[in-house]
Amino acid sequence: MQTAHIVFDEIGGKNATRVTKMRSSKVRDLFSAAVRPDIISLSGGMPDVSLLPAASIRTATRNALDDDAERAVALQYGATNGHVATRQVVCDLMRDLGVRCKPDDVLLTSGAQEALDLIAKCFIDPGDIILAEGPTYLGALQAFSAYEPDVRCIDFDDDGMRMDLLEAELERIGKGNPRLKFCYVIPNFQNPGGVTMAPERRKRLLELSREYGFLVLEDDPYGRLRYDGGHMIPLKVLDDRVVYLGTVSKVFAPGLRLGWMVAPADVLSRVNLVKQGADLCGSSLDQAVVRHYFTDTPWERTLQTFIKTYRVRRDAMLAALEEHFPPEARWTRPEGGFFVWVTLPEYVDTDSMLGAALEAGVTYVPGNSFFPDGVTGRNSMRINFSYESPENIAEAIRRLAGVIDERLELYRAFIKAGAIKVDPETRAAIESYRERAEKTGAAAEEGE
Ligand SMILES: Cc1ncc(COP(=O)(O)O)c(C=O)c1O
Repeated sequence: MQTAHIVFDEIGGKNATRVTKMRSSKVRDLFSAAVRPDIISLSGGMPDVSLLPAASIRTATRNALDDDAERAVALQYGATNGHVATRQVVCDLMRDLGVRCKPDDVLLTSGAQEALDLIAKCFIDPGDIILAEGPTYLGALQAFSAYEPDVRCIDFDDDGMRMDLLEAELERIGKGNPRLKFCYVIPNFQNPGGVTMAPERRKRLLELSREYGFLVLEDDPYGRLRYDGGHMIPLKVLDDRVVYLGTVSKVFAPGLRLGWMVAPADVLSRVNLVKQGADLCGSSLDQAVVRHYFTDTPWERTLQTFIKTYRVRRDAMLAALEEHFPPEARWTRPEGGFFVWVTLPEYVDTDSMLGAALEAGVTYVPGNSFFPDGVTGRNSMRINFSYESPENIAEAIRRLAGVIDERLELYRAFIKAGAIKVDPETRAAIESYRERAEKTGAAAEEGE
């Protein structure tokens, strides 16, 4: 896969200032590195489309194109907000999640990614304040950054975005501040964090949005990919003012660029206007194939196959982390989605460690990619479990543990010398880990 390479010097610096401030996505850049066959990639966010039954794809594409009348629609321009029949299918999908909407409440986009850009284009002037989880989806940061906002990141814990920190930030911003535009959240199996927002925090976020006057943007690509625990009520069910973003990318296929927005009429009319300028309308063919996939094929059975497969891969990753990762590392335990978020001691810089990881045959995404300043989160990383086999995942984690271990050696020497203070529990864990590692090393030497 090629990554964007822009050479401005040849056009004499005529580019807009906003473009010079935009960063290339580390994930996209890593795609090109990951083509080496010996490298196991934990860096992407791809669904395993090989799990899709060929018969379903054939049925959906044939039904979109075989019939004369259907073909005429599928190959023609369409309405900017999308074909009504596909918007009706979206309403049916949303009903399963508890959201009641009608086709007029829905606008189809080219993936959820386009929706992020359109929302940003409608709402952000340079310097406007956007709230988001920190770390957050880097594609959202990229989409927002073109409009030069001031993105304020709010830390999360195992129950999602921390409401105490959000409240403190809102107090600093002030009630009714016209610069405060929206809060962007991924409440289910967050990307990159893997954490899910607890029900009481969902309610609190919505209370705060009314109190301080900001929109809530709920991005939910992974909500249906739950491996344990019960369904969480979407923010959109709790408050109709929420702008909800959905996509077929993770439950069907990202090659069909189809996402959607369910939003109040005053938001949709603005988005419709900017979408006209962006692409006139989305792909009619993609909309037709998606509609037939969800009406003419056993897609719910296929979704169960995705869920079962990803659960096994997630478990393989968590087990390998438990077995191989050093005691200084912490990681999240996602109940669904695609990602685990790993935090290492402050001392480790995962951005500069990436070269050594590539040497060892494994890739991940350094944590700083998921923060707007590109600096915060340098001691963390996102690792993906949806794409590789359980065996590859275990091997990748083993390789990665070796790379991290090397980096930690110096840190451990400092702890031993008392130059870095840690709590007795961590100290004991490090000691027993080292003893174990030494024993394993000695046993391996004897065996040689
Ligand atoms: C949180 C989040 N939002 C949006 C997207 C974009 O999805 P789409 O393929 O629908 O554009 C992704 C893709 O990885 C994502 O993880």
